[in-house]
Amino acid sequence: MLSETRIVLRNIDKIDPVSVTDYKKRGGYQSLRKALAMKPQDVIDQMKLSGLRGRGGAGFPVWKKWSITAAAQGDRKYVICNADEGEPGTNKDRVILSGDPNSVFEGMAIAAYAVGADKGYLYLRREYPYIAPILEQALVNARGEGCLGSSIMGSKFIFDIEVVSGGGAYVCGEETALIESIEGRRGEPRFKPPYPGVQGLYGKPTVVNNVETLANIPVIIERGGKWFSEIGVPNCTGTKVFTLCGNITQKGVFEYPMGTNLKDIYETHGGVKDNFDLRGFMLGGQSGNLINAGQIDLPMDIDSCQQAESVLGTGTIMVIDDRHDILDIVENIMTFFIEESCGKCTPCREGNIRIYEILRRISSGQGRMEDLTLLEDLASTMNVACLCGLGQNSSVAVITSLHNFPDVYLKAIERGQRA
Ligand SMILES: Cc1cc2nc3c(=O)[nH]c(=O)nc-3n(C[C@H](O)[C@H](O)[C@H](O)COP(=O)(O)O)c2cc1C
Ligand code: SF4
Repeated sequence: MLSETRIVLRNIDKIDPVSVTDYKKRGGYQSLRKALAMKPQDVIDQMKLSGLRGRGGAGFPVWKKWSITAAAQGDRKYVICNADEGEPGTNKDRVILSGDPNSVFEGMAIAAYAVGADKGYLYLRREYPYIAPILEQALVNARGEGCLGSSIMGSKFIFDIEVVSGGGAYVCGEETALIESIEGRRGEPRFKPPYPGVQGLYGKPTVVNNVETLANIPVIIERGGKWFSEIGVPNCTGTKVFTLCGNITQKGVFEYPMGTNLKDIYETHGGVKDNFDLRGFMLGGQSGNLINAGQIDLPMDIDSCQQAESVLGTGTIMVIDDRHDILDIVENIMTFFIEESCGKCTPCREGNIRIYEILRRISSGQGRMEDLTLLEDLASTMNVACLCGLGQNSSVAVITSLHNFPDVYLKAIERGQRA
């Protein structure tokens, strides 16, 4: 049985989320004070020592992102907290923001000090409207205590945060679509480069970090990058907040060191419900991978997952029992991406529909063996031809199900040929 290592979730259920006094009693805002006494470059060096990588899905090293923005030219710089959390089945950012918003504000303020920004935006998922008043009240209280605003803690450092309601689309979580949305336009991804670190919001150098990434920052400054680097596994340090959902006995949000084995997480939380058999897992959200029950022995960190042709992504673990049809699941995923494609580029706008049509043909008994090659070809073309991660990864679940559950496809095609 595992027990949790709570770094990001350290204050959840232990404080009144809007109370700065409660947050301070647990060491809150001491890290910002400590950072303000350091040189900005020393703050970035602590991030490098910690090895912290982004928790929004891509795993980009935090220190590298901050260094790019710190070095970029601009009369203004910004820090954006990505709280769009559009990945179905992922609830970790919701728990962090509604339970401990000050840890995210403090992380944003430290990031701003390190890169030279004076303004922050917190882009909140539209479907989380009940969190907005918590954030607004917590911001009022933080300003009142001199932790945000001008002359922070008696220093010359100025930084304030504005909450912006999301556009209500999955693609708005993509950092450049998010920036377009804050600027008041449709949330459509931009061509990259230039990357936001150099030319982001209003054309200015901008750091975009995920909620969970930012909530780690105060603890790294408090306890030191070296301390953090000793948690987890080499090259993938710290903890990960996992969302357990689907057919598992104990659902919810749990924090374990990077590299914790999927089998241990699964067993600790009671395995499948009601004595059904385990069929597999959907890892990392809808743009993630479908793996079968035999692949359960998997260290859950960015690199190990990648080596096993899987993905950690947002850390979502959806458990699937034997009542569920894999073809049904992948068809459902493709309808999601057809709906969420912004339509800006043809391979994504058309490709998702073509993949769905092939899947329907197979599941309805009209499939042909050539359809399996067609699915692979379409997916690999979309992976290189689509502008953003939505289209690049929308068919990953289909392809991984093809590799990890080949019988499902072969049986459906054979059934059709016999009829
Ligand atoms: C379609 C799409 C949706 C995304 N949605 C989110 C999201 O909801 N939250 C998030 O933090 N990152 C999301 N990302 C990743 C962001 O573009 C960006 O990499 C991330 O916010 C960077 O933060 P990090 O370095 O702290 O991980 C999404 C990416 C794509 C392609
Ligand atoms: S890949 Fe899809 S979501 Fe991304 S820009 Fe192209 S059409 Fe829009």
